[in-house]
Amino acid sequence: MTDVQEVSAAEETEVSESQIAVHWREEENYYPPATFISQANAADPAIFERFSEEHFPECFKEYADLLTWDRYWNTTLDTSNPPFWKWFVGGRLNACFNCVDRHLASSRDKAAFIWVPEPEDEETKAITYQELYRRVNEFAVLLRDFGGVKTGDRITFHLPMVPELPVSMFACARLGVIHSEVFGGFSGAACGQRIADSESRILVTMDAYYRQGELIDHKAKADEAVEEARKQGVEVEKVLVWRRYPGEYRSESPMVDGRDFFVDEVLKDYHDQLVEPVSMPAEAPLFLMYTSGTTGQPKGCEHSTGGYLAYVAGTSKYYQDIHPEDTYWCFADIGWITGHSYIVYGPLALGTTSVMYEGVPTYPDAGRPWRIAERLGVNIFHTAPTTIRMLRKLGPDEPTKYNYRFKHMTTVGEPIEPDVWRWYHEAVGKGQAVIVDTWWQTENGGFLGSTLPALQPMKPGSCGPGVLGIYPVIYDEQGEVVEAGSGKAGNICIRNPWPGIFQTIWRQDERFVQTYYEKYCRNKESKDWHDWPYFAGDGAVQADDGYFRILGRVDDVINVAGHRLGTKELESATITVDEVAEAAAVPVVDELRGRAVEMYVSLKPGVDPSDDIEGKVEKAIETQIGKIARPKSVWVVPDMPKTRSGKIMRRVIAGISNFADVGDVTTLANPEIVDEIREQVQSEKMARGEVPRELSPEEMEEIKAFGRAE
Ligand code: WTA
Repeated sequence: MTDVQEVSAAEETEVSESQIAVHWREEENYYPPATFISQANAADPAIFERFSEEHFPECFKEYADLLTWDRYWNTTLDTSNPPFWKWFVGGRLNACFNCVDRHLASSRDKAAFIWVPEPEDEETKAITYQELYRRVNEFAVLLRDFGGVKTGDRITFHLPMVPELPVSMFACARLGVIHSEVFGGFSGAACGQRIADSESRILVTMDAYYRQGELIDHKAKADEAVEEARKQGVEVEKVLVWRRYPGEYRSESPMVDGRDFFVDEVLKDYHDQLVEPVSMPAEAPLFLMYTSGTTGQPKGCEHSTGGYLAYVAGTSKYYQDIHPEDTYWCFADIGWITGHSYIVYGPLALGTTSVMYEGVPTYPDAGRPWRIAERLGVNIFHTAPTTIRMLRKLGPDEPTKYNYRFKHMTTVGEPIEPDVWRWYHEAVGKGQAVIVDTWWQTENGGFLGSTLPALQPMKPGSCGPGVLGIYPVIYDEQGEVVEAGSGKAGNICIRNPWPGIFQTIWRQDERFVQTYYEKYCRNKESKDWHDWPYFAGDGAVQADDGYFRILGRVDDVINVAGHRLGTKELESATITVDEVAEAAAVPVVDELRGRAVEMYVSLKPGVDPSDDIEGKVEKAIETQIGKIARPKSVWVVPDMPKTRSGKIMRRVIAGISNFADVGDVTTLANPEIVDEIREQVQSEKMARGEVPRELSPEEMEEIKAFGRAE
């Protein structure tokens, strides 16, 4: 037994959950500098009163009023069909008009986007609002006249971080067509599955893009995607291929006659053409964003036009502190919700300049982001802990070499270790920038937990309280409130609806209700929103001061480098390998990526474990999901620990992988297997030098909770 195990085993037997909490060290507060406060969009504490529960839901008028409405709404919140909340009912607007057209009068020549290609010798491109307007219109006409799409149709994009992605998004929004962007790093098969689910007849893709110094052939994935969609019964009629270098095709994959078209060629027929933005009901869906869940297929989170846009505009203004004259850089991928809300829709609704970067943070070296920031005059910087950890590891002193100045920084997507937070603050922020740690999810549209930067102190490792108009609560498994300061962890929920909440899981209303509302619904007949708390699926603990620490998922989702991966998806991909009988995916604490995936597999009788199972499993996961999901290790084990009813106990395996306590195993059908697997896995890990650091109490809590939803 290692020391780590001894300690945790002792804790487990003698110390109750509430006592463990005593060890949760409180971090000190950091206060925003006066220079920030004096210019902040939200600097008057009266704002808390305006968004207090007494003023709910009318408080969100303040967000909606940031937009230009074709017709004003008559009902702020319609709760007649819980939990399918409707915001700003009766209102009409167009999201593209709000993000593009309406800024032309004042900001025609200002950059809407500044796009930085990954190769450093390639020219950075500024796309003015006027230029964006032209490009969006032309592509919208193309989609309508050449693509034959109409309002309400879905289009799938599989695009990397290029300006053509927001151009395509806005073109759809202009027509009232629902876009569904699939992260460029996902495999063709994963894309095809999402095409099929959303029944898209058009796929928009790109021939190639740069990543880590390499021009990646991307079009090849389109063929796999079309094939997969066909298997699932949906026929893609047109594949529209943007070219990284217009006029030059950089993919090896042949263009299919009559199906595949180069956008730059077709666009010639639509030169300078305009199309009126379609006035959409506030409740019309704007886009789908697929995310992983506990069971089965990824869920298409459907986001509304009015509520979503109002919410991202409002939170961008107050929490990102975006002013039109700022140069704002959210270093995320538009293929995730963060990019939709806080690279594209939020910042552009406010008419600011949004920076987009094509590649990886450390290419060609860990000074790259700071060179970009210096050269472009970025003053708001927004990224994920994984990126911060990586930059700290590879270039702890790089920021000091560059002359940029951030007023504001954001961290999003995963818990950030206080140590990493402090480096972000000191080194990256040069001690002068405020930090907001923003907690939220694909389903939420925008932030749920954060400090209001000029008015609430920061605390490393805590996201802060609920944001304006969001009233969170922690419930235990029985639905009792876990009090702030009790030190106990529980399930964080949001008591109220808010404009950014997704409308449903695309075509799966029942799953929507069941996943997010069933657990704590007090009365299914009730039309009162108070009876319908939103279950976020995260464990959290609330300190005396009301600040939340998010511990991680309580369902079977693994957050790898800020990307949600469902254990079910990983396992389904793994069992496509012929030799594999059973598979289980668990999270393991990883220094850089926060969490990594480890796969456990047992083989069919008579199969030889030496048969490069590991390689086959990796390949299968890469093909079915994408490289981001590649497991850190694949363990071929004689059997899985199982309950008497035959369920694989992921919690137990997760404990083994993390050198943590495995909890009670006496009720297993095969308790003896636990020691056997532990010996096999841990001795191999020790030999490889892969013993994880001692887990923090928060991490321990998370590992213990893993698979609880089973
Ligand atoms: C986790 C990303 C701690 C959480 C916007 C959540 C966080 C999941 C934070 C959603 C944070 C997000 N601190 N954990 N600030 N932000 N998470 O859907 O577990 O990709 O449920 O949305 O990431 O991930 P998603």
